[in-house]
Amino acid sequence: MHLSNINKSLARNEKIAMLTCYDATYAKIMEAEGVDILLVGDSLGMVLQGYSNTLEVTMQDMMYHTKIVASGAKHTPIMADMPYGSYEHDKESALSNAQALLQSGAHIVKLEGGGSMVETAHFLVTNGVPVCAHLGFTPQSVEQLGGYKIQGKTEDAAKVILQDAQAMSDAGVSFVLLEMVPAQLACNITQTIAAPTIGIGAGVDCSGQVLVLQDLLGIYTGPADKEPQAFKAPRFVRNFLSETGSVQSAIRAYVHAVKNKTFPATQHSY
Ligand code: KIV
Repeated sequence: MHLSNINKSLARNEKIAMLTCYDATYAKIMEAEGVDILLVGDSLGMVLQGYSNTLEVTMQDMMYHTKIVASGAKHTPIMADMPYGSYEHDKESALSNAQALLQSGAHIVKLEGGGSMVETAHFLVTNGVPVCAHLGFTPQSVEQLGGYKIQGKTEDAAKVILQDAQAMSDAGVSFVLLEMVPAQLACNITQTIAAPTIGIGAGVDCSGQVLVLQDLLGIYTGPADKEPQAFKAPRFVRNFLSETGSVQSAIRAYVHAVKNKTFPATQHSY
């Protein structure tokens, strides 16, 4: 399936079900269970490598995991995160790093931030690289944002996110991913911009949803050096494995829940 097929699903008003994926085994399962897009997220720095944030993930890491996901999924579009430090300095190095991810098997890259990143996104798009813009809570800026906090709560903050989303959409991005923003703001953005939105902690009205695989399975318990008991899953997480009993059926249930709009429910939204 190509990104253009996703547009057909969207034209039928069908929600897009995206999941993070980091290896070939899960890629095969996700493809078989109907996941629309596999996200090779830099969340791998937390859920695979055990760090407390995504900042240590390298281009080498992203290329390796993109390659092994691509070896397991032959028909499902793959989105790869541009890691911290790989796109912020200048447009030319952003382009060559984005191209390296496409050469590793990605069909689209994701980068974080609005503002000055709009020009970079436009440069990538005009050079043939499909882009997803990640707005709202942007994990690579966790230090500046003062921790894992909901974004766009005040009228002014919401306005900035809406403006960034509009600018990214006008720049030609294929998707805008909205993380941890009020459901009403995500709904407004989805109704305003041309690009489809993908939500995580952003309410049910986005064009699609994404979850981190380990959260869907209920197996992530925080950084490697912290006690598991100290970890509390964020509000937007739902453990589909405990509801279903197998990895395959958990992923299938997630896809169904996204498509029939029962996930995220109000208790998963802000
Ligand atoms: O890296 C990742 O998994 C992500 C999701 C949180 C959307 O960017």
